[in-house]
Amino acid sequence: MKKITIAIDGFSSSGKSTMAKQLAKKIGYVYVDSGAMYRATTLYAIRNGMTDKETGIDTQALINALPLIDISFAITPEDTQHTILNGEDVEKEIRGMEVSGWVSPVAVIPEVRHYLVGLQQQYGKDKGIVMDGRDIGTTVFPDAEMKVFVQASPEVRAKRRYDELIEKGTPSDYESVLANIKERDHIDSTRKESPLRKAEDAFVLDNDNLSREEQMEVLVKLFDEKTRGED
Ligand code: DC
Repeated sequence: MKKITIAIDGFSSSGKSTMAKQLAKKIGYVYVDSGAMYRATTLYAIRNGMTDKETGIDTQALINALPLIDISFAITPEDTQHTILNGEDVEKEIRGMEVSGWVSPVAVIPEVRHYLVGLQQQYGKDKGIVMDGRDIGTTVFPDAEMKVFVQASPEVRAKRRYDELIEKGTPSDYESVLANIKERDHIDSTRKESPLRKAEDAFVLDNDNLSREEQMEVLVKLFDEKTRGED
Protein backbone atom coordinates (compact mmCIF):
# COMPACT_ATOMS: atom_id res chain seq x y z
CA MET A 1 0.00 0.00 0.00
CA LYS A 2 1.30 3.44 -0.89
CA LYS A 3 2.28 5.46 2.17
CA ILE A 4 0.63 8.80 2.82
CA THR A 5 1.40 11.85 4.96
CA ILE A 6 -0.82 12.56 7.95
CA ALA A 7 -0.96 16.05 9.51
CA ILE A 8 -2.68 16.53 12.87
CA ASP A 9 -3.04 20.11 14.10
CA GLY A 10 -4.79 21.69 17.04
CA PHE A 11 -4.48 23.81 20.18
CA SER A 12 -2.15 22.79 23.00
CA SER A 13 -3.28 19.85 25.13
CA SER A 14 -6.10 18.99 22.77
CA GLY A 15 -4.98 15.38 22.98
CA LYS A 16 -3.54 15.43 19.47
CA SER A 17 -0.13 14.02 20.44
CA THR A 18 -1.65 11.01 22.18
CA MET A 19 -3.90 10.27 19.25
CA ALA A 20 -1.18 10.90 16.65
CA LYS A 21 1.16 8.54 18.51
CA GLN A 22 -1.50 5.83 18.80
CA LEU A 23 -2.46 6.15 15.16
CA ALA A 24 1.18 5.94 14.01
CA LYS A 25 1.71 2.80 16.06
CA LYS A 26 -1.44 1.16 14.75
CA ILE A 27 -0.64 1.77 11.10
CA GLY A 28 3.14 1.33 11.37
CA TYR A 29 4.06 4.93 10.55
CA VAL A 30 6.77 7.16 12.02
CA TYR A 31 5.49 9.70 14.57
CA VAL A 32 7.00 13.17 14.95
CA ASP A 33 5.94 15.60 17.68
CA SER A 34 6.76 18.99 16.16
CA GLY A 35 5.83 20.80 19.41
CA ALA A 36 8.67 18.91 21.12
CA MET A 37 11.06 20.50 18.61
CA TYR A 38 9.90 24.01 19.56
CA ARG A 39 10.14 23.02 23.21
CA ALA A 40 13.70 21.65 22.83
CA THR A 41 14.76 24.85 21.06
CA THR A 42 13.23 26.83 23.93
CA LEU A 43 15.11 24.76 26.49
CA TYR A 44 18.33 25.46 24.63
CA ALA A 45 17.56 29.20 24.80
CA ILE A 46 16.80 29.06 28.53
CA ARG A 47 19.92 27.07 29.34
CA ASN A 48 22.12 29.39 27.35
CA GLY A 49 20.92 32.56 29.04
CA MET A 50 18.86 33.79 26.09
CA THR A 51 15.67 34.34 28.09
CA ASP A 52 15.19 37.10 30.63
CA LYS A 53 12.02 38.00 32.54
CA GLU A 54 12.71 41.73 32.09
CA THR A 55 14.02 41.91 28.55
CA GLY A 56 12.46 38.82 26.97
CA ILE A 57 14.25 36.63 24.44
CA ASP A 58 17.63 37.45 22.93
CA THR A 59 16.32 36.71 19.46
CA GLN A 60 19.57 37.38 17.61
CA ALA A 61 21.60 35.09 19.88
CA LEU A 62 19.06 32.33 19.35
CA ILE A 63 19.04 32.78 15.58
CA ASN A 64 22.85 32.60 15.55
CA ALA A 65 22.76 29.43 17.64
CA LEU A 66 20.22 27.56 15.49
CA PRO A 67 22.85 25.52 13.57
CA LEU A 68 24.13 24.28 16.95
CA ILE A 69 20.75 22.89 17.95
CA ASP A 70 20.43 19.23 17.05
CA ILE A 71 17.09 17.62 17.75
CA SER A 72 16.25 13.96 17.32
CA PHE A 73 13.92 11.36 18.79
CA ALA A 74 14.69 8.06 20.51
CA ILE A 75 12.43 5.17 21.42
CA THR A 76 12.91 3.98 25.00
CA PRO A 77 12.77 0.29 26.01
CA GLU A 78 9.26 1.08 27.36
CA ASP A 79 8.33 2.02 23.80
CA THR A 80 7.82 5.73 24.44
CA GLN A 81 9.33 8.44 22.28
CA HIS A 82 11.82 10.81 23.93
CA THR A 83 13.19 14.06 22.60
CA ILE A 84 16.99 14.30 22.38
CA LEU A 85 18.67 17.72 22.40
CA ASN A 86 22.33 17.64 21.41
CA GLY A 87 22.66 14.06 22.61
CA GLU A 88 20.78 14.53 25.90
CA ASP A 89 17.35 13.12 26.74
CA VAL A 90 15.33 16.23 27.64
CA GLU A 91 11.85 14.71 27.47
CA LYS A 92 10.93 15.51 31.06
CA GLU A 93 12.39 18.99 31.14
CA ILE A 94 10.71 20.22 27.95
CA ARG A 95 7.25 19.43 29.41
CA GLY A 96 7.76 21.57 32.55
CA MET A 97 6.19 24.96 33.19
CA GLU A 98 9.36 26.95 32.55
CA VAL A 99 9.63 25.75 28.96
CA SER A 100 5.83 26.04 28.53
CA GLY A 101 6.07 29.68 29.61
CA TRP A 102 8.67 30.58 26.99
CA VAL A 103 7.81 28.34 24.07
CA SER A 104 5.14 30.45 22.36
CA PRO A 105 7.34 33.57 22.08
CA VAL A 106 10.18 31.38 20.77
CA ALA A 107 7.81 29.83 18.22
CA VAL A 108 6.89 33.24 16.77
CA ILE A 109 10.47 33.90 15.62
CA PRO A 110 10.40 33.40 11.82
CA GLU A 111 13.99 32.07 11.63
CA VAL A 112 13.23 29.46 14.30
CA ARG A 113 10.17 28.37 12.35
CA HIS A 114 12.05 28.16 9.05
CA TYR A 115 14.77 26.07 10.64
CA LEU A 116 12.38 23.64 12.33
CA VAL A 117 9.98 23.43 9.38
CA GLY A 118 12.99 22.45 7.21
CA LEU A 119 13.88 19.63 9.62
CA GLN A 120 10.24 18.51 9.74
CA GLN A 121 10.00 18.38 5.95
CA GLN A 122 13.19 16.29 5.90
CA TYR A 123 11.64 13.79 8.33
CA GLY A 124 8.57 13.52 6.07
CA LYS A 125 10.24 13.26 2.70
CA ASP A 126 9.53 9.51 2.35
CA LYS A 127 5.92 9.79 3.61
CA GLY A 128 4.60 7.15 6.02
CA ILE A 129 4.62 9.77 8.77
CA VAL A 130 2.17 11.17 11.31
CA MET A 131 3.19 14.63 12.49
CA ASP A 132 1.31 16.76 14.96
CA GLY A 133 1.57 20.49 15.64
CA ARG A 134 -0.02 23.81 14.71
CA ASP A 135 0.94 24.38 11.08
CA ILE A 136 1.54 20.88 9.75
CA GLY A 137 -1.44 20.79 7.37
CA THR A 138 -1.02 24.42 6.31
CA THR A 139 2.76 25.03 6.10
CA VAL A 140 4.87 21.92 6.70
CA PHE A 141 2.89 19.45 4.56
CA PRO A 142 0.27 21.44 2.64
CA ASP A 143 -0.09 18.44 0.29
CA ALA A 144 -0.69 15.90 3.07
CA GLU A 145 -3.29 13.36 1.99
CA MET A 146 -4.89 13.25 5.44
CA LYS A 147 -5.32 16.35 7.61
CA VAL A 148 -7.06 16.48 10.97
CA PHE A 149 -7.80 19.56 13.07
CA VAL A 150 -8.43 18.70 16.73
CA GLN A 151 -10.61 20.89 18.94
CA ALA A 152 -11.44 20.82 22.67
CA SER A 153 -12.42 23.52 25.20
CA PRO A 154 -9.64 25.31 27.21
CA GLU A 155 -11.01 23.89 30.49
CA VAL A 156 -10.92 20.29 29.27
CA ARG A 157 -7.43 20.81 27.89
CA ALA A 158 -6.18 22.44 31.13
CA LYS A 159 -7.47 19.50 33.14
CA ARG A 160 -5.60 17.11 30.82
CA ARG A 161 -2.33 19.04 31.09
CA TYR A 162 -2.76 19.34 34.86
CA ASP A 163 -3.18 15.55 35.20
CA GLU A 164 -0.25 14.96 32.85
CA LEU A 165 2.03 17.20 34.96
CA ILE A 166 1.09 15.32 38.14
CA GLU A 167 1.73 12.02 36.39
CA LYS A 168 5.15 13.24 35.27
CA GLY A 169 6.07 14.28 38.81
CA THR A 170 6.04 18.05 38.11
CA PRO A 171 2.72 19.18 39.62
CA SER A 172 1.35 22.69 39.13
CA ASP A 173 -1.93 24.38 40.07
CA TYR A 174 -4.93 24.13 37.75
CA GLU A 175 -5.50 27.89 37.48
CA SER A 176 -1.98 28.63 36.22
CA VAL A 177 -2.14 25.72 33.77
CA LEU A 178 -5.44 27.12 32.42
CA ALA A 179 -3.99 30.64 32.20
CA ASN A 180 -0.94 29.31 30.33
CA ILE A 181 -3.13 27.41 27.87
CA LYS A 182 -5.30 30.48 27.17
CA GLU A 183 -2.26 32.68 26.71
CA ARG A 184 -0.64 30.18 24.33
CA ASP A 185 -3.90 29.80 22.37
CA HIS A 186 -3.89 33.55 21.87
CA ILE A 187 -0.22 33.79 20.82
CA ASP A 188 -0.40 30.67 18.62
CA SER A 189 -3.48 31.80 16.71
CA THR A 190 -2.63 35.49 16.31
CA ARG A 191 1.09 35.31 15.41
CA LYS A 192 2.04 36.57 11.95
CA GLU A 193 4.16 33.62 10.90
CA SER A 194 2.21 30.34 10.35
CA PRO A 195 -0.59 30.98 12.86
CA LEU A 196 -2.61 28.05 14.11
CA ARG A 197 -5.55 27.68 11.77
CA LYS A 198 -7.49 24.88 10.24
CA ALA A 199 -6.41 23.90 6.73
CA GLU A 200 -9.36 24.18 4.37
CA ASP A 201 -9.25 20.48 3.58
CA ALA A 202 -8.81 19.31 7.20
CA PHE A 203 -11.26 17.05 8.96
CA VAL A 204 -12.43 18.63 12.26
CA LEU A 205 -12.34 16.33 15.26
CA ASP A 206 -14.03 17.80 18.35
CA ASN A 207 -12.95 15.58 21.20
CA ASP A 208 -14.48 17.21 24.31
CA ASN A 209 -16.87 14.29 24.59
CA LEU A 210 -15.01 11.50 22.84
CA SER A 211 -13.09 8.69 24.51
CA ARG A 212 -9.64 7.73 23.21
CA GLU A 213 -11.14 4.62 21.63
CA GLU A 214 -13.81 6.63 19.83
CA GLN A 215 -11.19 9.08 18.51
CA MET A 216 -9.08 6.23 17.22
CA GLU A 217 -12.09 4.74 15.44
CA VAL A 218 -12.68 8.04 13.66
CA LEU A 219 -9.01 8.35 12.67
CA VAL A 220 -8.61 4.78 11.44
CA LYS A 221 -11.79 5.10 9.37
CA LEU A 222 -10.45 8.29 7.83
CA PHE A 223 -7.08 6.63 7.15
CA ASP A 224 -8.80 3.68 5.47
CA GLU A 225 -10.78 6.07 3.26
CA LYS A 226 -7.65 7.98 2.30
CA THR A 227 -5.59 4.90 1.47
CA ARG A 228 -8.33 2.87 -0.21
CA GLY A 229 -7.39 2.24 -3.79
CA GLU A 230 -3.77 3.38 -3.24
CA ASP A 231 -1.38 0.57 -3.99
O1 DC B 1 2.02 21.00 21.20
P1 DC B 1 2.87 21.68 22.27
O2 DC B 1 2.04 22.31 23.35
O3 DC B 1 3.92 20.78 22.81
O4 DC B 1 3.62 22.86 21.50
C1 DC B 1 4.47 23.73 22.18
C2 DC B 1 4.47 25.10 21.54
O5 DC B 1 5.13 25.03 20.28
C3 DC B 1 3.13 25.73 21.30
O6 DC B 1 2.87 26.77 22.22
C4 DC B 1 3.20 26.30 19.92
C5 DC B 1 4.46 25.81 19.33
N1 DC B 1 4.28 25.01 18.11
C6 DC B 1 4.23 25.67 16.91
O7 DC B 1 4.27 26.89 16.89
N2 DC B 1 4.16 24.97 15.74
C7 DC B 1 4.11 23.64 15.75
N3 DC B 1 4.04 22.97 14.59
C8 DC B 1 4.12 22.94 16.99
C9 DC B 1 4.19 23.66 18.15
